[in-house]
Amino acid sequence: MKITYYGQSCFGVEFNGKHLLFDPFIRANSLAKQVDIEKIPADYILLTHGHGDHVADAEEIAKRTGARIVANYEIASWYAEKGLEVHYLNHGGKWSFDFGMVKYVNAVHSSVLPDGTYGGNPGGFVIWGKEGCFYHAGDTALTMDMKLIPMICPPLNFAILPIGDNFTMDAADAAIASEFIQCDKIIGCHYDTFGFIKIDHQAAKKAFEDKGKELILLPIGESLTI
Ligand code: NI
Ligand code: MN
Repeated sequence: MKITYYGQSCFGVEFNGKHLLFDPFIRANSLAKQVDIEKIPADYILLTHGHGDHVADAEEIAKRTGARIVANYEIASWYAEKGLEVHYLNHGGKWSFDFGMVKYVNAVHSSVLPDGTYGGNPGGFVIWGKEGCFYHAGDTALTMDMKLIPMICPPLNFAILPIGDNFTMDAADAAIASEFIQCDKIIGCHYDTFGFIKIDHQAAKKAFEDKGKELILLPIGESLTI
């Protein structure tokens, strides 16, 4: 699995020969100026919830690439009305795609689309297949529901968790989340983009080290293979 970070909660993951893109928010992210949005590949665009810092560039990239948008019923319907290819999911449901399984799991947050349309309930995704298993939590608080993930999904090779505080859990809570989901390799997201979520990187890493876990803070535009 090759993982590329595009800032905020946006990641590209090459999985079983397909390009999965999560929560694209690039053009309006001043930290992601070096990312050329025209060159981001996507076969599927997975959206955790409707907030602008997760969906802002989804329509543009879907139109350029022909990628299918995978999201909850309300968000997928909003994009279907724009003429885009979608797959509807809802909480607890999973679907077997050509690259592997996608399960839509709970997040504790809120969700509204940029024009004020109701965005359904926010979620996260657990993806698995021949290459392994990973979790993108979206925006969420620490929640006991995370304990369900190791009970109902294969063991996680890595997880993408928000660590920026204010709108989501902070690094200390995310370190507890990494215990709940039984995952030792965490990639941080949803930090530094705005004033409210600027964090101390060393303190964040220490919160994980203290629990025997690894927190990876990928520079924007860089990739990692797991
Ligand atoms: Ni949000
Ligand atoms: Mn957000």
